[in-house]
Amino acid sequence: MSRNQQWMERDLAVLWHPCTQMKDHEQLPLIPIRRGEGVWLEDFDGKRYLDAVSSWWVNVFGHANPRIGARIKAQVDQLEHVMLAGFSHQPVIELSERLVAITPPGLDRVFYADNGSSGIEVALKMSFHYWRNCGHEGKKRFVTLTNSYHGETVAAMSVGDVALFTDTYKPLLLDTFKVPSPDCYHRPEGVSWEEHSQTMFAHMEQTLAEHHGEIAAVIVEPLIQGAGGMRMYHPIYLTLLREACDRHGVHLIADEIAVGFGRTGTLFACEQAGITPDFLCLSKALTGGYLPMAAVLTTDTVYQAFYADYATLRAFLHSHTYTGNPLACAAALATLDIFAEDNVIERNKALSARMASATAHLQDHPHVAEVRQTGMAVAIEMVEDKASKTAYPWQQRRGLAVYQHALGRGALLRPLGSVVYFLPPYVITPEQIDFLAEVATEGIDLATRARVSVAVPAGAPAEFRDPG
Ligand SMILES: Cc1ncc(COP(=O)(O)O)c(C=O)c1O
Repeated sequence: MSRNQQWMERDLAVLWHPCTQMKDHEQLPLIPIRRGEGVWLEDFDGKRYLDAVSSWWVNVFGHANPRIGARIKAQVDQLEHVMLAGFSHQPVIELSERLVAITPPGLDRVFYADNGSSGIEVALKMSFHYWRNCGHEGKKRFVTLTNSYHGETVAAMSVGDVALFTDTYKPLLLDTFKVPSPDCYHRPEGVSWEEHSQTMFAHMEQTLAEHHGEIAAVIVEPLIQGAGGMRMYHPIYLTLLREACDRHGVHLIADEIAVGFGRTGTLFACEQAGITPDFLCLSKALTGGYLPMAAVLTTDTVYQAFYADYATLRAFLHSHTYTGNPLACAAALATLDIFAEDNVIERNKALSARMASATAHLQDHPHVAEVRQTGMAVAIEMVEDKASKTAYPWQQRRGLAVYQHALGRGALLRPLGSVVYFLPPYVITPEQIDFLAEVATEGIDLATRARVSVAVPAGAPAEFRDPG
């Protein structure tokens, strides 16, 4: 039995993995990883995999990055943790100062949580609570876009719309307004991203005009709807949204958990629209992919609505045990240093252009409806019928075939349903991008050529995006 198999057996005896039908592992090997270095992950049998999805979009400067590692090690010897209520520490103060300095102007306060979903809960609760503190108790609903994803806790699921993740839990969820997404995949032939995103804004305007009295906030994933299949839209939508939120007295929550820290080509996606949201949620790449942490930035206006004598009961009494953990702060500070010292956003332009040129040929593939890109994210949408953009029945799990092929070739390309995408660490080389494109092309050829027939249970939903 190989070392991989030994670890796999021990794992499958005791673990329950995230976002996984565990029965799949009767056929699909689980890959135990022994070490990582740069863009590479290495298993216990010595096989290497290029991490094309940055381990669920967190890893921006490679695995075992010496600069981030050194900062964490130094912090371990100094202070591993202290509760953040009543106490503070140097890394959390420095990190907060730096986040305020680099995020869009006007975001002057930082509240921490310990994962992305919890960060979303913070923003939703703070927005609702702000309006309540200001005497607008009726403002208690949220507006979200179709096909959006904001995490897995109950309120975060309520503002999400990816059926696979939320359908089962519908009876538990908050009642939100769902507005059609500006997703440009669905734009009519000959219409530009900008025109389409602008046209789609009419739905949002109408919802805000009709219901602003009961709406606390609109929440969006700026520019890229990640878990919804890397669907993309034009910054004009955010510009219009900021203006409309101001006009209707509604907060704007920008969930940059996936897109923040350079993924869209600018440090923050909101910069491309020239806007400042009322709440900016950050996580994932915040710590370079080292430790779980989320930061929610907000304005002084919001902060002041909570600032009062204790007995007024206006305080935000929300807490997570590991709020502002010093080790996570140290990882984040090292990550921000790398962004600044290595001129990363500028350097990424060449990598982003290489991602475009390496995947351009897939536009002509008979089963690819679209190759789309925003900054350092490229997505390739496989379809059954190119002309009509008819999706493959989700039960066929075409993306899974690409995933399996890529593993065999030494690449981690975990797709979102039939969407194959690259969201690589920024330390990837142009040659490694070409390698990924080659592997993806082979995988797409194989997956779309295969005759697949699966039994579809009666009553199964027609569209159900499986993460693979
Ligand atoms: C846009 C967005 N928001 C929120 C989350 C939730 O973050 P976490 O998985 O850390 O709870 C994710 C995770 O993928 C995300 O992509």
